[in-house]
Amino acid sequence: MNHPVLGFIGYGSMGSMLINGFLARDMVEESNILISTRSPEKAASLKEKHPGVIILESNRSVAEKVDILFLCIKPVDFSEVLTAITDVIRPNQHVISIAGMVPINTLEGRLKAKISKVIPTVVSEVLEGVSLLCHGTRVTDENKAYLKQLLMSIGTVCETNEAMLPLYTELTSCGPGFFASFIEEFILSAMRHDPSLTYEAVSGLVVQTLYGTGRLMADRHFTPQSVVKRVATKGGITEEGVKVFEEKLPHVLDELFDKTLQKRSLMAEKVDQMFK
Ligand SMILES: NC(=O)c1ccc[n+]([C@@H]2O[C@H](COP(=O)([O-])OP(=O)(O)OC[C@H]3O[C@@H](n4cnc5c(N)ncnc54)[C@H](OP(=O)(O)O)[C@@H]3O)[C@@H](O)[C@H]2O)c1
Repeated sequence: MNHPVLGFIGYGSMGSMLINGFLARDMVEESNILISTRSPEKAASLKEKHPGVIILESNRSVAEKVDILFLCIKPVDFSEVLTAITDVIRPNQHVISIAGMVPINTLEGRLKAKISKVIPTVVSEVLEGVSLLCHGTRVTDENKAYLKQLLMSIGTVCETNEAMLPLYTELTSCGPGFFASFIEEFILSAMRHDPSLTYEAVSGLVVQTLYGTGRLMADRHFTPQSVVKRVATKGGITEEGVKVFEEKLPHVLDELFDKTLQKRSLMAEKVDQMFK
Protein backbone atom coordinates (compact mmCIF):
# COMPACT_ATOMS: atom_id res chain seq x y z
CA MET A 1 0.00 0.00 0.00
CA ASN A 2 1.50 3.34 -1.07
CA HIS A 3 1.65 6.11 1.56
CA PRO A 4 -1.79 5.64 3.10
CA VAL A 5 -3.20 8.39 5.29
CA LEU A 6 -3.47 7.27 8.90
CA GLY A 7 -6.13 8.60 11.27
CA PHE A 8 -6.18 8.31 15.05
CA ILE A 9 -9.18 8.95 17.26
CA GLY A 10 -7.86 9.31 20.82
CA TYR A 11 -4.43 10.63 21.77
CA GLY A 12 -4.02 8.98 25.17
CA SER A 13 -1.46 6.53 26.48
CA MET A 14 -1.74 4.07 23.57
CA GLY A 15 -2.68 6.46 20.76
CA SER A 16 0.33 8.66 21.52
CA MET A 17 2.62 5.64 21.77
CA LEU A 18 1.55 4.31 18.36
CA ILE A 19 1.83 7.69 16.63
CA ASN A 20 5.21 8.58 18.17
CA GLY A 21 6.53 5.09 17.44
CA PHE A 22 5.46 5.11 13.76
CA LEU A 23 6.99 8.59 13.35
CA ALA A 24 10.22 7.60 15.14
CA ARG A 25 10.55 4.69 12.73
CA ASP A 26 9.75 6.85 9.66
CA MET A 27 6.83 4.59 8.81
CA VAL A 28 4.63 7.50 7.79
CA GLU A 29 4.99 11.14 6.72
CA GLU A 30 3.92 13.65 9.38
CA SER A 31 1.35 15.15 6.99
CA ASN A 32 -0.19 11.70 6.50
CA ILE A 33 -1.22 11.56 10.16
CA LEU A 34 -4.59 13.01 11.17
CA ILE A 35 -5.66 13.06 14.80
CA SER A 36 -8.76 13.98 16.75
CA THR A 37 -8.96 13.64 20.49
CA ARG A 38 -11.17 14.88 23.30
CA SER A 39 -8.44 17.07 24.82
CA PRO A 40 -6.35 18.29 21.84
CA GLU A 41 -4.08 20.33 24.17
CA LYS A 42 -2.56 17.00 25.24
CA ALA A 43 -1.17 16.63 21.71
CA ALA A 44 0.65 20.00 21.87
CA SER A 45 4.09 18.46 22.41
CA LEU A 46 3.55 16.12 19.45
CA LYS A 47 2.70 19.11 17.27
CA GLU A 48 5.87 20.92 18.48
CA LYS A 49 8.06 17.94 17.64
CA HIS A 50 6.23 17.01 14.43
CA PRO A 51 4.65 20.22 13.08
CA GLY A 52 3.38 18.47 9.94
CA VAL A 53 0.96 16.26 11.90
CA ILE A 54 -2.65 17.39 11.42
CA ILE A 55 -4.94 17.73 14.41
CA LEU A 56 -8.61 18.12 13.52
CA GLU A 57 -11.49 19.19 15.70
CA SER A 58 -13.92 16.40 14.99
CA ASN A 59 -13.68 12.62 14.91
CA ARG A 60 -15.90 12.68 11.86
CA SER A 61 -13.47 14.88 9.88
CA VAL A 62 -10.63 12.47 10.62
CA ALA A 63 -12.75 9.40 9.83
CA GLU A 64 -13.80 10.63 6.40
CA LYS A 65 -10.31 11.67 5.26
CA VAL A 66 -8.15 8.64 6.06
CA ASP A 67 -7.36 5.24 4.56
CA ILE A 68 -6.62 3.58 7.89
CA LEU A 69 -8.34 4.64 11.10
CA PHE A 70 -7.09 3.66 14.56
CA LEU A 71 -9.69 3.83 17.32
CA CYS A 72 -7.52 4.48 20.38
CA ILE A 73 -10.33 5.05 22.86
CA LYS A 74 -11.79 3.15 25.80
CA PRO A 75 -14.80 0.85 25.27
CA VAL A 76 -17.03 3.28 27.17
CA ASP A 77 -16.32 5.97 24.52
CA PHE A 78 -17.09 3.76 21.50
CA SER A 79 -20.78 4.42 21.36
CA GLU A 80 -20.36 8.21 21.02
CA VAL A 81 -17.50 7.90 18.52
CA LEU A 82 -19.25 5.28 16.35
CA THR A 83 -22.42 7.33 16.24
CA ALA A 84 -20.43 10.30 14.95
CA ILE A 85 -18.47 8.43 12.27
CA THR A 86 -20.65 5.52 11.07
CA ASP A 87 -22.14 7.22 8.01
CA VAL A 88 -18.81 8.57 6.71
CA ILE A 89 -16.95 5.27 6.93
CA ARG A 90 -16.50 3.58 3.54
CA PRO A 91 -16.02 -0.12 2.67
CA ASN A 92 -12.49 0.44 1.35
CA GLN A 93 -11.25 1.90 4.64
CA HIS A 94 -9.43 -0.19 7.24
CA VAL A 95 -10.53 0.48 10.82
CA ILE A 96 -8.36 -0.80 13.65
CA SER A 97 -9.66 -0.99 17.19
CA ILE A 98 -7.22 -1.27 20.07
CA ALA A 99 -9.97 -2.01 22.61
CA GLY A 100 -9.78 -5.70 23.43
CA MET A 101 -13.29 -5.78 24.88
CA VAL A 102 -15.11 -4.66 21.73
CA PRO A 103 -15.67 -7.68 19.46
CA ILE A 104 -14.72 -7.44 15.80
CA ASN A 105 -18.17 -8.62 14.65
CA THR A 106 -19.81 -5.84 16.69
CA LEU A 107 -17.71 -3.29 14.78
CA GLU A 108 -18.41 -5.07 11.48
CA GLY A 109 -22.11 -4.69 12.28
CA ARG A 110 -21.73 -0.93 12.82
CA LEU A 111 -19.15 0.07 10.19
CA LYS A 112 -18.93 -0.77 6.49
CA ALA A 113 -15.12 -0.85 6.68
CA LYS A 114 -12.64 -3.69 7.01
CA ILE A 115 -12.00 -4.26 10.72
CA SER A 116 -8.91 -5.44 12.60
CA LYS A 117 -8.04 -5.50 16.25
CA VAL A 118 -4.64 -4.69 17.71
CA ILE A 119 -3.71 -5.06 21.36
CA PRO A 120 -0.64 -2.90 21.84
CA THR A 121 1.67 -2.93 24.83
CA VAL A 122 3.23 -0.08 26.76
CA VAL A 123 6.62 -1.74 26.15
CA SER A 124 6.44 -0.57 22.53
CA GLU A 125 7.18 2.90 23.92
CA VAL A 126 10.80 1.71 23.63
CA LEU A 127 10.06 -0.13 20.35
CA GLU A 128 9.95 -3.52 22.07
CA GLY A 129 7.26 -5.96 23.15
CA VAL A 130 4.53 -7.81 21.29
CA SER A 131 1.48 -6.31 19.59
CA LEU A 132 -1.37 -8.81 19.24
CA LEU A 133 -3.19 -8.70 15.94
CA CYS A 134 -6.36 -10.28 14.56
CA HIS A 135 -8.56 -9.52 11.60
CA GLY A 136 -12.21 -9.50 10.64
CA THR A 137 -13.60 -11.23 7.58
CA ARG A 138 -13.32 -8.27 5.16
CA VAL A 139 -9.63 -7.47 5.61
CA THR A 140 -7.51 -8.13 2.50
CA ASP A 141 -4.03 -9.67 2.44
CA GLU A 142 -2.67 -6.26 1.41
CA ASN A 143 -4.30 -4.58 4.44
CA LYS A 144 -2.95 -7.32 6.71
CA ALA A 145 0.58 -7.02 5.35
CA TYR A 146 0.66 -3.22 5.67
CA LEU A 147 -0.67 -3.23 9.24
CA LYS A 148 1.79 -5.92 10.27
CA GLN A 149 4.65 -3.92 8.76
CA LEU A 150 3.55 -0.83 10.73
CA LEU A 151 3.38 -2.77 13.99
CA MET A 152 6.69 -4.57 13.38
CA SER A 153 8.32 -1.13 13.42
CA ILE A 154 7.51 -0.73 17.14
CA GLY A 155 8.14 -4.27 18.35
CA THR A 156 7.16 -7.75 17.31
CA VAL A 157 3.74 -8.97 16.23
CA CYS A 158 1.74 -12.05 17.17
CA GLU A 159 -1.08 -12.71 14.71
CA THR A 160 -3.80 -14.75 16.35
CA ASN A 161 -7.55 -15.25 16.49
CA GLU A 162 -9.93 -13.29 18.67
CA ALA A 163 -10.64 -16.26 20.97
CA MET A 164 -6.99 -16.31 22.07
CA LEU A 165 -6.87 -12.61 22.88
CA PRO A 166 -7.92 -12.68 26.57
CA LEU A 167 -5.08 -14.93 27.75
CA TYR A 168 -2.52 -13.49 25.33
CA THR A 169 -3.45 -9.98 26.46
CA GLU A 170 -2.67 -10.90 30.08
CA LEU A 171 0.79 -11.97 28.90
CA THR A 172 1.78 -9.16 26.55
CA SER A 173 -0.29 -6.14 27.51
CA CYS A 174 -1.02 -6.66 31.23
CA GLY A 175 2.34 -8.46 31.63
CA PRO A 176 4.42 -5.27 32.00
CA GLY A 177 2.09 -4.21 34.83
CA PHE A 178 2.38 -7.60 36.54
CA PHE A 179 6.17 -7.71 36.21
CA ALA A 180 6.51 -4.12 37.45
CA SER A 181 4.28 -4.88 40.42
CA PHE A 182 6.45 -7.89 41.29
CA ILE A 183 9.61 -5.78 41.00
CA GLU A 184 8.14 -3.12 43.28
CA GLU A 185 7.50 -5.77 45.95
CA PHE A 186 11.01 -7.19 45.44
CA ILE A 187 12.50 -3.71 46.03
CA LEU A 188 10.32 -2.99 49.07
CA SER A 189 11.20 -6.33 50.64
CA ALA A 190 14.93 -5.65 50.23
CA MET A 191 14.39 -2.27 51.92
CA ARG A 192 12.49 -3.87 54.81
CA HIS A 193 15.53 -6.08 55.37
CA ASP A 194 17.85 -3.07 55.53
CA PRO A 195 16.02 0.21 56.20
CA SER A 196 19.20 2.22 55.52
CA LEU A 197 18.82 1.45 51.78
CA THR A 198 17.19 4.06 49.56
CA TYR A 199 14.51 3.21 47.01
CA GLU A 200 16.64 4.76 44.22
CA ALA A 201 19.70 2.67 45.09
CA VAL A 202 17.79 -0.62 45.27
CA SER A 203 15.65 0.02 42.19
CA GLY A 204 18.78 0.96 40.20
CA LEU A 205 20.35 -2.39 41.02
CA VAL A 206 17.16 -4.35 40.42
CA VAL A 207 16.16 -2.73 37.13
CA GLN A 208 19.63 -3.26 35.61
CA THR A 209 19.63 -6.87 36.78
CA LEU A 210 16.19 -7.42 35.34
CA TYR A 211 17.20 -5.84 32.03
CA GLY A 212 20.22 -8.14 31.81
CA THR A 213 18.14 -11.20 32.72
CA GLY A 214 15.68 -10.30 29.96
CA ARG A 215 18.53 -9.97 27.49
CA LEU A 216 19.94 -13.36 28.46
CA MET A 217 16.58 -14.88 27.57
CA ALA A 218 15.83 -12.75 24.51
CA ASP A 219 19.32 -12.41 22.94
CA ARG A 220 21.05 -15.56 24.14
CA HIS A 221 17.92 -17.73 24.11
CA PHE A 222 18.34 -18.88 27.69
CA THR A 223 15.08 -20.41 28.90
CA PRO A 224 13.87 -19.16 32.31
CA GLN A 225 14.73 -22.61 33.70
CA SER A 226 18.28 -22.45 32.36
CA VAL A 227 18.83 -19.04 34.00
CA VAL A 228 17.60 -20.49 37.31
CA LYS A 229 19.91 -23.50 36.89
CA ARG A 230 22.88 -21.27 36.12
CA VAL A 231 22.38 -19.11 39.23
CA ALA A 232 20.84 -21.48 41.76
CA THR A 233 23.69 -23.90 42.41
CA LYS A 234 22.84 -26.99 44.43
CA GLY A 235 22.83 -26.29 48.16
CA GLY A 236 23.49 -22.58 47.53
CA ILE A 237 21.76 -19.37 48.53
CA THR A 238 19.72 -18.67 45.38
CA GLU A 239 18.30 -22.19 45.57
CA GLU A 240 16.88 -21.37 49.01
CA GLY A 241 14.99 -18.40 47.52
CA VAL A 242 13.86 -20.33 44.45
CA LYS A 243 12.33 -22.98 46.75
CA VAL A 244 10.15 -20.26 48.31
CA PHE A 245 8.91 -19.27 44.84
CA GLU A 246 8.31 -22.87 43.79
CA GLU A 247 6.21 -23.46 46.88
CA LYS A 248 4.20 -20.23 46.87
CA LEU A 249 4.16 -18.66 43.40
CA PRO A 250 2.06 -21.27 41.54
CA HIS A 251 -0.89 -20.49 43.85
CA VAL A 252 -0.35 -16.74 43.60
CA LEU A 253 -0.12 -16.78 39.80
CA ASP A 254 -3.04 -19.22 39.35
CA GLU A 255 -5.11 -16.83 41.44
CA LEU A 256 -3.88 -13.88 39.36
CA PHE A 257 -5.01 -15.51 36.08
CA ASP A 258 -8.29 -16.72 37.64
CA LYS A 259 -9.11 -13.21 38.83
CA THR A 260 -8.00 -11.27 35.76
CA LEU A 261 -9.72 -13.60 33.29
CA GLN A 262 -12.89 -13.54 35.39
CA LYS A 263 -12.80 -9.72 35.49
CA ARG A 264 -12.23 -9.67 31.74
CA SER A 265 -15.37 -11.78 31.07
CA LEU A 266 -17.46 -9.58 33.37
CA MET A 267 -16.25 -6.45 31.58
CA ALA A 268 -16.85 -8.07 28.17
CA GLU A 269 -20.48 -8.79 29.19
CA LYS A 270 -20.93 -5.13 30.20
CA VAL A 271 -19.47 -3.96 26.89
CA ASP A 272 -21.82 -6.36 25.01
CA GLN A 273 -24.75 -4.74 26.82
CA MET A 274 -23.54 -1.29 25.74
CA PHE A 275 -23.80 -2.29 22.09
CA LYS A 276 -27.31 -3.87 22.35
N1 LIG B 1 -2.93 1.22 28.41
C1 LIG B 1 -2.56 0.04 27.93
O1 LIG B 1 -1.51 -0.53 28.28
C2 LIG B 1 -3.42 -0.65 26.88
C3 LIG B 1 -2.92 -1.79 26.26
C4 LIG B 1 -3.68 -2.40 25.27
C5 LIG B 1 -4.91 -1.88 24.91
N2 LIG B 1 -5.38 -0.78 25.56
C6 LIG B 1 -6.69 -0.27 25.12
O2 LIG B 1 -6.44 0.93 24.41
C7 LIG B 1 -7.56 1.80 24.54
C8 LIG B 1 -7.05 3.17 24.95
O3 LIG B 1 -6.37 3.01 26.20
P1 LIG B 1 -5.40 4.14 26.75
O4 LIG B 1 -4.67 3.51 27.89
O5 LIG B 1 -4.67 4.78 25.64
O6 LIG B 1 -6.52 5.13 27.34
P2 LIG B 1 -6.37 6.73 27.53
O7 LIG B 1 -4.98 7.07 27.90
O8 LIG B 1 -7.49 7.11 28.45
O9 LIG B 1 -6.67 7.29 26.07
C9 LIG B 1 -7.95 7.40 25.53
C10 LIG B 1 -7.97 8.64 24.69
O10 LIG B 1 -9.24 8.74 24.05
C11 LIG B 1 -9.67 10.10 24.17
N3 LIG B 1 -11.12 10.16 24.01
C12 LIG B 1 -12.08 9.77 24.88
N4 LIG B 1 -13.31 9.99 24.35
C13 LIG B 1 -13.11 10.52 23.13
C14 LIG B 1 -13.97 10.98 22.11
N5 LIG B 1 -15.32 10.91 22.22
N6 LIG B 1 -13.41 11.47 20.99
C15 LIG B 1 -12.06 11.54 20.83
N7 LIG B 1 -11.20 11.15 21.77
C16 LIG B 1 -11.71 10.63 22.90
C17 LIG B 1 -9.21 10.50 25.55
O11 LIG B 1 -9.24 11.90 25.71
P3 LIG B 1 -8.87 12.60 27.11
O12 LIG B 1 -7.39 12.84 27.00
O13 LIG B 1 -9.68 13.84 27.16
O14 LIG B 1 -9.21 11.62 28.21
C18 LIG B 1 -7.79 9.92 25.52
O15 LIG B 1 -6.92 10.77 24.82
C19 LIG B 1 -8.50 1.17 25.55
O16 LIG B 1 -9.57 0.58 24.88
C20 LIG B 1 -7.63 0.14 26.24
O17 LIG B 1 -8.38 -0.98 26.66
C21 LIG B 1 -4.66 -0.13 26.51
